[in-house]
Amino acid sequence: MDKIVTIKSHPLRFDARKRGGIRGRNHGGSGRFSGVKSQGLRYVTPEGPEAETQPGSRGRVLRNLLGLTRKRDIDRAEFEALLKAQESFLDRVGPETRFTAKLIREMHRTWLGEIYSWAGEYRTVELQKGSFRWPPAFRVEQNMRVLEEGILRGNTPCRADALEAVTIRMAEVHADLLLIHPFRDGNGRIARWLADLMALQAALPAPGYEFEGRKNLGNRKRYLAAVVRGYARDYEPLAAFFSAAIAPRLERLG
Ligand SMILES: Nc1ncnc2c1ncn2[C@@H]1O[C@H](COP(=O)(O)OP(=O)(O)O)[C@@H](O)[C@H]1O
Ligand SMILES: [Mg+2]
Repeated sequence: MDKIVTIKSHPLRFDARKRGGIRGRNHGGSGRFSGVKSQGLRYVTPEGPEAETQPGSRGRVLRNLLGLTRKRDIDRAEFEALLKAQESFLDRVGPETRFTAKLIREMHRTWLGEIYSWAGEYRTVELQKGSFRWPPAFRVEQNMRVLEEGILRGNTPCRADALEAVTIRMAEVHADLLLIHPFRDGNGRIARWLADLMALQAALPAPGYEFEGRKNLGNRKRYLAAVVRGYARDYEPLAAFFSAAIAPRLERLG
């Protein structure tokens, strides 16, 4: 639903000579370790559509299939595509659905398939935000398998239960999926969509995140801090965030 903060996940530059992210440029160099020169360990830079920005966008927009160059336009395209995908998944996910790596990839592909060539594919580039680096791309597949067999199997289908019990499950899935960061972009929104679906499975309303606008900066900060605590397997703050985002909607249903 919501674009949280202004998180731009930049592919990591391995090239120590040029620091400061990829903004505005497509890099040369060879991706996926293919370009390591034989005479020594030369760091490689990622390449391919995941690492590129749309020509004419001044580095603001990822290379996309629609040829969009304005941030506003790509944000809208992604937003509208997400609404459509969410709608279409209401039929595909029921109270008995167990979420798997495959299903999460299908959600991502259904959402972004017309916008990015890498929709539904695990990322091949390294991602970093501020000083935080997500686990390496080459571990995504294995990490997702572990997530599927552990956290996803243990917590989905998400059964109806006390609010606190449901939101702790949502928090575990959410934080662990975000820690893996399987996709080039859209991980936050996929994870929140999954949280919505888990709430619905448990016969609860989806959380109201209240992320939009300046007045909700505090909400975005609390959410991000809770996600980061979740990375360290301290799921309580994120569960509390979900509970607080669900409770008012429950009361309204009365
Ligand atoms: N500095 C950070 N440290 C750790 N996790 C972060 C940080 N910034 C953002 N995140 C997590 O990454 C998510 C954003 O990932 P991204 O793939 O860009 O998804 P989206 O495009 O849907 O926002 C956020 O929702 C948040 O949970
Ligand atoms: Mg993003």
